[in-house]
Amino acid sequence: MYKSNVNDELYGANGYNCWLGYHLLENGELRENYSQWASNIVISKEPDEIKIALSELKSGINGILGVDAVVVTREPEQSSCIALGVLGRGQNIDSYVKYDEVVQIGNEGFIIKAFKTGNSEIVVVAGTTTKGLLYGVFSLLRLLQTEATISGILKIENPANQLRIINHWDNIDGSIERGYAGKSIFFTDNKVTEDLGRIKDYARLLCSVGINSIVINNVNVHKYESMLITDKYLNDVASLAQIFRDYGIKLYLSANFASTIEIGGLATADPLDPQVRKWWKEKADEIYSLIPDFGGFLIKADSEFRPGPFTYGRTHADGANMLAEALEPYGGLVIWRCFVYNCMQDWRDRITDRARAAYDNFMPLDGLFRENVLLQIKNGPMDFQVREPVSPLFGGLQKTNQLLELQITQEYTGQQKHLCYLVPMWKEILDFDTMAKGRNTSVKKIITGSVFNNKLGGMAAVTNIGNDLNWTGHQMAQSNTYGYARLCWNPDLSAEKITDEWVRMTYSNYEKVVNTVKEMLLGSWRTYENYTSPLGIGWMVNPNHHYGPNVDGYEYDKWGTYHRADHKGIGVDRTVKSGTGYAGQYHKDVAGIYEDMDKCPEELLLFFHHMPYDYILKSGETLIQYIYNTHFKGVEEVEELRNKWFSLKGWISEEIFLHVLERLDGQLEHSKEWRDVINTYFYRKTGISDELGRKIY
Ligand code: GCU
Repeated sequence: MYKSNVNDELYGANGYNCWLGYHLLENGELRENYSQWASNIVISKEPDEIKIALSELKSGINGILGVDAVVVTREPEQSSCIALGVLGRGQNIDSYVKYDEVVQIGNEGFIIKAFKTGNSEIVVVAGTTTKGLLYGVFSLLRLLQTEATISGILKIENPANQLRIINHWDNIDGSIERGYAGKSIFFTDNKVTEDLGRIKDYARLLCSVGINSIVINNVNVHKYESMLITDKYLNDVASLAQIFRDYGIKLYLSANFASTIEIGGLATADPLDPQVRKWWKEKADEIYSLIPDFGGFLIKADSEFRPGPFTYGRTHADGANMLAEALEPYGGLVIWRCFVYNCMQDWRDRITDRARAAYDNFMPLDGLFRENVLLQIKNGPMDFQVREPVSPLFGGLQKTNQLLELQITQEYTGQQKHLCYLVPMWKEILDFDTMAKGRNTSVKKIITGSVFNNKLGGMAAVTNIGNDLNWTGHQMAQSNTYGYARLCWNPDLSAEKITDEWVRMTYSNYEKVVNTVKEMLLGSWRTYENYTSPLGIGWMVNPNHHYGPNVDGYEYDKWGTYHRADHKGIGVDRTVKSGTGYAGQYHKDVAGIYEDMDKCPEELLLFFHHMPYDYILKSGETLIQYIYNTHFKGVEEVEELRNKWFSLKGWISEEIFLHVLERLDGQLEHSKEWRDVINTYFYRKTGISDELGRKIY
């Protein structure tokens, strides 16, 4: 029988609270220590604007320290306390923060500062806005949850990225495109949800990690979904916006580019047509009358059967600018996706290369977009594969606001049945040096807007959450949501640090738990890559749902030729010299590396080059032997993952322990299927046996 060392009540039995479970700290001495100042909270006279921050702080302290903090409106004489407030309103809190500190705090930033006066310790938590204060409170709670030293602390933080966005691919019928954690929390049966309590819990979670924008519906806006911007839905959408507003989050909607036709009664969606322009302006007036801080529109156009400006012979700049003009008076934004390519391309043709599409479509438009337009660019040129190079639009575009788009939902990375922690991958993307302005022109710098003086910038990601009780299906997939948001806030945080925080906040501070779970998470992406698609070639998934191995299965390539595998070799020649020329889309210093098969990073070798199976890799293995080896190794690594988790029996709440164990068992079985399907495919194709004589089915 399962015997738990931990109290399931305290440790959040089902995962609903995610990283805000606020478990009582195990270390009694530290608890005492913190409680000396955390038991008193001093606020200003006008508690309204800090109401939410205060209640979050109180409930956090209560959980973490087991203390019911007393709230007073002035400094209790001789006692230690937390001083909480918004700066610059002529209140007590101002006297604790020096001028040179205040000027460093931006409108989403905060200060946490601890100092002694006499025998008392004062811990100041303040922002220059209510939102900044909220972020400060969640940050202080994180420090407590992770047992940080607070004495003498001086921490001033501002987010690196202005826009920190979550994209939902939720449909109004309640389904979620590429959703692996139940149904939509926003929509059910073509109605907006009535379960606003859950929305509030979600808003809290997002706010606690600094997310400030949310798009609640799918980028694929079909005819019926276009109705979301009509009076049939807008009042209910406004209620959702209100909940998010309280937590500093702006609501956006995906819109159908052809809304004028779908719901507007016009015969055209031509962006230069005066009637179309008028319709969108009136639509903006209507939306803003109900949602005064509406964020704006996210648009997928001319892609995978969605309408767009190409139909009218117009450019994507024409399309985006028309919408931007309508939203501009209200400060709204147009977020325009660069995922534009011809999904009907014939993959047998050696010239057309889907990888080129985003750059080919958008580079010529650099500088032509209005100031309130941002281009949202997928991290790679394809589609969220387990390994891709970074999109050359980063570093290419200079005169256009940009957002990096990531995918938290694990469409191609195990669909939340497999453990695949994506933070290490995202770190590589953010740190990638585009060389666009000499060395050190990393993606993370470009998207903040600072490199090319762009007015706006940031990050967006397709979420992995749904209405499952634990939000993400696989409870450990919460770490991807957490990690994404932390990277939006500060892309310089190491994967190690983010993971450490998540484990301590979610499970406990026991070193055994912290170390084991960290090891599991940090290696899991590489493990997934090992038993799936090798060396950047991508796909190898079953058609449409994209789960499970099928080397020739990708639905848009009905010929099974995207990988160019034959009996002699595999990989796509994307060089300028002899291939599709894609490598030439990068800055010359980067292009030179990808162009040359000896310099090309090996993990991307097959993305850029067609190689014979007997090519010798740096490890000394032939290419074919590498494919066999990594696939056997990947499965062994999943076995290790399972063993590691099993060693935590009794250290994790029973429900979560058993749930994760079940997922890992499934992953193990499924990784064997991947191994066998891929290895067999290549064995049959090449006739070359495994050097180690292992059985290939
Ligand atoms: C992928 C995904 C689709 C999605 C599309 C997008 O192709 O499979 O479901 O709509 O990306 O990003 O728009």
